[in-house]
Amino acid sequence: MHPELRSRLLAACGPGHLFDDPDLRSSYETDWTRRFSGKAVFVARPPDTAGVAAVVAACREFGVPLVPQGGNTGLVGGSIPRAGEAVLSLRRLDRIEDFDPIAGEVTAGAGVTLQALQEFVRPHGWDVGVDLASRASATIGGMVATNAGGVRVIRYGPMRHQVIGIEAVLADGAVLARLPGLLKDNTGYDLPGLLAGSEGTLAVVTRVRLRLIPARPARAVALLGLPSLAAALEVLGAVRRRAPGLEAAEVFFPEGLDLVLRHARLAAPFPRPHACYLLVECAGADDPAPALAAALESSVDPASVLFATSRADRDRLWAYRERHTEAISAEGIPHKLDVTLPASRLAGFEALVRARLAEAAPGTRPILFGHAGDGNLHVNILGAAPDDETPDDAVLRLVASLGGSISAEHGIGVAKKRWLNLTRGPADIQAMRAIKRALDPAGILNPGVIFDLEGLTPPARRREDG
Ligand code: MLT
Ligand code: ZN
Repeated sequence: MHPELRSRLLAACGPGHLFDDPDLRSSYETDWTRRFSGKAVFVARPPDTAGVAAVVAACREFGVPLVPQGGNTGLVGGSIPRAGEAVLSLRRLDRIEDFDPIAGEVTAGAGVTLQALQEFVRPHGWDVGVDLASRASATIGGMVATNAGGVRVIRYGPMRHQVIGIEAVLADGAVLARLPGLLKDNTGYDLPGLLAGSEGTLAVVTRVRLRLIPARPARAVALLGLPSLAAALEVLGAVRRRAPGLEAAEVFFPEGLDLVLRHARLAAPFPRPHACYLLVECAGADDPAPALAAALESSVDPASVLFATSRADRDRLWAYRERHTEAISAEGIPHKLDVTLPASRLAGFEALVRARLAEAAPGTRPILFGHAGDGNLHVNILGAAPDDETPDDAVLRLVASLGGSISAEHGIGVAKKRWLNLTRGPADIQAMRAIKRALDPAGILNPGVIFDLEGLTPPARRREDG
């Protein structure tokens, strides 16, 4: 590393927070799936926004591209280095500030974990609208940068809908400050909305102002065993119509449940297996259990329903769904696809995707689960080599032919950029490229994520001379 770059980075990060030792770097170099990894030239861990700005400015000057990284829970290879980038870790930006208990708003540093924020706001009667299984590691900055979805999108929307203000460092080191954030602010382009879901390619998110939701402590969960996904969607329709406060509607199948039972050492939920499992959660100020039970009464066999209202029992039922990710990864390195289908096509998709995979990639094992309430299924494929894109291609083309999206919530990263044009038209992609060029003309921020941009290579002006 050029001595001047090193001394500027050290000044920005402080001792112990700039490292190029392979052992120290390694946990920043492989993503959660283990399918994507690469070598970082160094890892920089600045403590605050000024430090992030100084790192970005120095790296731009020395032509070192940066991969911003939060909790490294990404699943599409978008937050790990690929070809000579440095990792810019945001984890030290972990302050929670300016909590407004009247308005229900809070400002979180990019490195605050979702769980830390939940634990901070819940005692005050507020909650975070987005929740997901990786809450202990996923950071607010990463969740905004990827527009994370999770299990409550049907009620509160994805991360972008929670954001009312943002602070971010642009590619030239300037700080874009849209904090504290106003609920009504019609003064030009919606930059926080643009940065949400930009996957670290347009700016580095450093702080976020979030709108909170009222905490709803009265909760009821039902886990149902059903004969098919079509039957599960029918029951879900009844719950949507008749049970107020529906917050989550998740599905999984026997092949995923078997992995969870085995790897998490859990007892089976029902005495006999079912073709599809639906988990619904309702929440409100008043006990939602009677309305949920009434909504389910006429449409399901009571022997195939488990109810839970206490925290411990709810967690026990949720574990069957939430532990899918770790159970699948314990079995092998999966290809993780994350697709949305139009509601009317979701039930038919299940059989179609299994058949398409059996034909295009025989011997692979599909494990499906996901967020039935938003038409979002996670198609995990075991048994394919990490670099064999045959199964991915088969699934994503099927999804596009049915009018769906190739990424519902995980993003494009590097994993899916080859297929971006299946569901984004030429004008869309042209506009996105123009935005990238305008905001990051030197291609310093997360190059090669979402799309490749010819001619956008970081300046090598001072890279070699150190
Ligand atoms: C989930 O819904 O659990 C997450 O999207 C993680 C995953 O897909 O594995
Ligand atoms: Zn998900």
